[in-house]
Amino acid sequence: MTAPTLTALRPLTLGRHQVWPPVVLAPMAGITNVGFRRLCREQGGGIYVCEMITTRALVERNPKTLRMIAFGEDEQPRSLQLYGTDPEITAAAVRIVVEQDLADHIDLNFGCPVPKVTRRGGGSALPWRRRLFARLVKAAVDAASPAGVPVTVKMRKRIDDDHLTYVEAGLAAQDAGVAAVALHGRTAAQRYSGTADWDAIATLKQALDVPVLGNGDIWEADDALRMVAHTGVDGVVIGRGCLGRPWLFADLEAAFNGRPERRLPTLGEVAVTMRRHAELLVDQFVAGARNPARGERDGCTDFRKHVAWYLKGFPVGSELRRSLAMIDSLAQLDDLLGKLDPSAPFPVETLGQPRGRTNSPGKVFLPDGWLASRDDDTVPDGAELDDSGG
Ligand SMILES: Cc1cc2nc3c(=O)[nH]c(=O)nc-3n(C[C@H](O)[C@H](O)[C@H](O)COP(=O)(O)O)c2cc1C
Repeated sequence: MTAPTLTALRPLTLGRHQVWPPVVLAPMAGITNVGFRRLCREQGGGIYVCEMITTRALVERNPKTLRMIAFGEDEQPRSLQLYGTDPEITAAAVRIVVEQDLADHIDLNFGCPVPKVTRRGGGSALPWRRRLFARLVKAAVDAASPAGVPVTVKMRKRIDDDHLTYVEAGLAAQDAGVAAVALHGRTAAQRYSGTADWDAIATLKQALDVPVLGNGDIWEADDALRMVAHTGVDGVVIGRGCLGRPWLFADLEAAFNGRPERRLPTLGEVAVTMRRHAELLVDQFVAGARNPARGERDGCTDFRKHVAWYLKGFPVGSELRRSLAMIDSLAQLDDLLGKLDPSAPFPVETLGQPRGRTNSPGKVFLPDGWLASRDDDTVPDGAELDDSGG
């Protein structure tokens, strides 16, 4: 490996946007909604990407999808991730985004390893079809550039170790005019297992002129600095590390500003953050609901999945954990949070440990004949998804 460079200790340039610190909240379906993003933004600077929106659902004006494209009034730049497999539908979706001024940055998802997506040639399967990939990215860039909206791509190393494409795909995306390329240093076959390959991220950084963003296994702020030193990337993308730990963005801001402080909240402080998170989700769901009581329940239901992440490693009994993961109202949440020991110290043994999905590697399901036809640029049949949010 070449000597570390600290190029990321300057703002990340994404087209017309300057982002400091050079930190990106990774798009995570079911997680990075407007409430969660606000919670994270309250901690520190960066760019915070919304949940994945499918191009077809946007073009068809699917009501759930339109509701998901929600940003805070003070959210800048508004960052939207699109999933698509058809250049024409993608261009139409991007035109809607720019004409209706729905976002200031568009990221294209080529990383999804989920069988229902790859089996039809979408997500992480798509860049293998290099001509289709280039056409799709160019269609998005051409539709976005008149409005000055930068387009980025997010991808994995590729399908599996025998079918690596990331440097070729990164160069193709650069030729198509993207503002940056983000690489999650895993193959689709790895899913979330093993460790992310930061050497691959360094290789991509050396191959491209546009900014490169490194993604994978940043659990602590100091991991982000290590990734920058190891790879020379222009910015870091944070996924699972912030689950149940939105204060990671405060640590990242401190780290990139050369400050040593890192948060180790007590259980009482974590409870305050949990309450804030639930309240933001309730606000979000009430805003989108006809019946406010239903909105509170839906917001609380959405919060339930976060409970185990917040409490990881803290001394909390299983019954209380279970009850917290079944709340229907903020009053119930307050009552249960009152039963936690506020003075319990942060469980430092969980620092640097994986959280969220860590599933095992698996076969990548692909359409028949997919690997044998790299230059076929026909749009795969049925690969567009109807449903936003993954
Ligand atoms: C629950 C969950 C949902 C995700 N949804 C998306 C998505 O919609 N779009 C996408 O590009 N990546 C998605 N990802 C992948 C993350 O953006 C990120 O690339 C991955 O988690 C690796 O980063 P990490 O090691 O920091 O978690 C998702 C990951 C998780 C855990």
